[in-house]
Amino acid sequence: MKKLYILVFISFLIACRSSTNSVSVKEVRVQNAAVVTAHPLASEIGLQVLKDGGNAVDAAIAVQFALAVCFPRAGNIAGGGFAIYRERDGTGYALDFREIAPKAAKEDMYLDSEGNVIPNASTRGALAVGVPGTTDGMDQLFQRFSKLQNWDRLIQPAIDLAEKGFYLTDAQEDDIAEVQESLRSVNKQETPFTKPRKRGEKFVQKEFAEVLKAIKKDRRYGFYTGWVADKFIETMENNGGVINHLDLLHYKSVWRPPAEFYYRNHRILTMPLPSSAGVVLPQMFEMVSQYNLPGGGFHSPTAIHLTAEVERRVFADRAMHLGDPRYNRVPLFNLMHRDYLLDRMKSFSRDKATPSSAIREGVFTDRESMETTHFSVVDAEGNAISLTTTLNGAYGSHLVCEGGGYFLNNEMDDFSVKPGVPNLYGLVGGEANKIQGGKRMLSSMSPTIVDYPNKSLKMVVGTPGGSTILTSVFQVITNVIDFKMDMHSAVQAPRFHHQWLPDQIIMEEGGFDKLTKEALEKKGHTIREVKSIGRVEAIHIEEDGTIVGVADKRKDDHAVGY
Ligand code: DON
Repeated sequence: MKKLYILVFISFLIACRSSTNSVSVKEVRVQNAAVVTAHPLASEIGLQVLKDGGNAVDAAIAVQFALAVCFPRAGNIAGGGFAIYRERDGTGYALDFREIAPKAAKEDMYLDSEGNVIPNASTRGALAVGVPGTTDGMDQLFQRFSKLQNWDRLIQPAIDLAEKGFYLTDAQEDDIAEVQESLRSVNKQETPFTKPRKRGEKFVQKEFAEVLKAIKKDRRYGFYTGWVADKFIETMENNGGVINHLDLLHYKSVWRPPAEFYYRNHRILTMPLPSSAGVVLPQMFEMVSQYNLPGGGFHSPTAIHLTAEVERRVFADRAMHLGDPRYNRVPLFNLMHRDYLLDRMKSFSRDKATPSSAIREGVFTDRESMETTHFSVVDAEGNAISLTTTLNGAYGSHLVCEGGGYFLNNEMDDFSVKPGVPNLYGLVGGEANKIQGGKRMLSSMSPTIVDYPNKSLKMVVGTPGGSTILTSVFQVITNVIDFKMDMHSAVQAPRFHHQWLPDQIIMEEGGFDKLTKEALEKKGHTIREVKSIGRVEAIHIEEDGTIVGVADKRKDDHAVGY
């Protein structure tokens, strides 16, 4: 009992009054189950599902729909995502509900007659929208793994939130105020997001509630057919989009074998292609495992330099080799071969940065060829789900479905719009990720689950952040495994990132001392400081079985459990 009081007191101390009007809890230490999401309301909804006998998948479905209402910046029904599900016996599953390019999409659809990229064409408005996968994905999860088998129960909390309204957090009020002008210029009709609003007034989404009721009644068909689909297609037609009814009807999410690899005896499960996580993460972990990463100390110039040099090399491969495996023959065997990865590091110098201009993607003799959100759930039976979902940029294409009241994604920008031209996240790409109808665009989303060497569940990790997702997930895992941090410290520690091009290390401002930055510059690195990198939602099962849910301190993120 005394222990319980201490735990409650610690949780209270850690509860941060962030920039919100609700208190978001950054760490819970519990015995049964935990939910960590980007929004307090969604976390509470997920927790209640678990307490009502639902499993981790039930909670995830309820959280996904709740986030679509209370976290419209990234939560969605018309975006896409990936889920890694680990059953208590260790069996892993990966669900790909990534958007696809509409059948009418063309390689040059964002280029003008002179072959130049048309500004904003792949990021704003109807042409930027990929065929959404989220609603089908939730239906797939439900059919295969729901314990409650009560779809209505899972979606009703979202309907209530939309219909009765809720209070935006301070951070959300600021956020919406900031984008309102763009939202008004993209949308011809008034929406709850474009209406002038008084700060602190309840946020109600009546039209969206009706859409959710249609999904409640007919599950995936409530979204991909009927009046909801008609409204979606009308929005496309009124705004120059190319998605048609058949695109919607034919959308299918795909169960894939999760990418599985080992790092210092820990099994790691993550998302395979079309997420680059399943290639980039095993490459990075294999490359650093040849060195003594923690040797120089946490955030020492030596450790940051080594990590950045590894990142530089794997991102070059990502840019040139990776894309939807259904459309490209990706040389996976070569890319993950230990000899190849050792070879890639031959040009690594402990003292000097290798300029990115000197790094190319690997060549194989047999070559055949702002905004996302993450949540993590562990249930009382020991099942775990790590789910990252997105509209791509914050509020996606900024276009709201007319008569539907929900945001449409701008995921098409994740394709390589033109070889060598950077996308929203500064990523360049080539042939493997060019636009083709029906193809999935390459992603960095990395929902990940890590086991102990004894095969029991250790960590559930993920984050938004575009290209930085890969390196944030890598850093949180190495913070725990190599730098022996508890999960709270591992998540809240400052982060940095290198992605080959542009040739620079981005670092969170205020997170690294002057001497460290100078030492890195002396080695030849260029440093650019940014406000923040990622929003990690993680769960750690400690060796004594305590479940520690940790929400990122960087925004409203909220951990709950019991
Ligand atoms: O799939 C991807 O890699 C991107 N669409 C993710 C976007 C993202 O994380 C935005 N969040 N800040």
